[in-house]
Amino acid sequence: MKNIVILFSGNGTNLEAIAKNLKDSKDIKIVCALTNNKNAYGIIRAKKFNIKVEILEHTKFKTRKEYDKALVELLKPYKPDLIVLAGFMRILTPIFVDSFELIINIHPSLLPLFKGAKAIERSFQSDMKAAGVTVHQVSNELDSGRILAQECFNSSGLTWEEFNNKIKEIEHRIYPKVIRDLLTK
Ligand code: GAR
Repeated sequence: MKNIVILFSGNGTNLEAIAKNLKDSKDIKIVCALTNNKNAYGIIRAKKFNIKVEILEHTKFKTRKEYDKALVELLKPYKPDLIVLAGFMRILTPIFVDSFELIINIHPSLLPLFKGAKAIERSFQSDMKAAGVTVHQVSNELDSGRILAQECFNSSGLTWEEFNNKIKEIEHRIYPKVIRDLLTK
């Protein structure tokens, strides 16, 4: 059995898509879902699937490094084979990144385009006729690790709502697949 930990900050739709996909898995277990935001709606989604929730608020720490150190100490006992960032809106320091074997992230753009915050907005507002989603390994450079999966779509003429729905539809489909591929091969 492989253990995964999912980190999230908000709505948690990716968390839910992964939980649904792995519900009956005999190979992979979500041992913990951690959030930095005690009001995150994802907490309710995680509890629906009986996933253990940990809340570690960054506001309680003076520095990014102190927060990351506490995060590592909290997560290590879960012995994760894989850490999954699913809308975890924190920049992680090497203290965290170098503490785990494998960390992956999903980003709502065709990396290396639109790294960082507000990627969906910037991708939507750009002149480009294509947009997409990337799953990548987390490294010490923001949104720059090895690309594990990427899917694009024709974005011309889409409204903001249609654009968002397309991003979510792709994310919810490809993220569980990457997790399964990484852990069952
Ligand atoms: C997702 O669209 C994910 O790609 C994005 O946050 C959203 C979380 O949605 N992540 C980033 O922008 C990371 N830089 P969710 O809470 O509904 O899963």
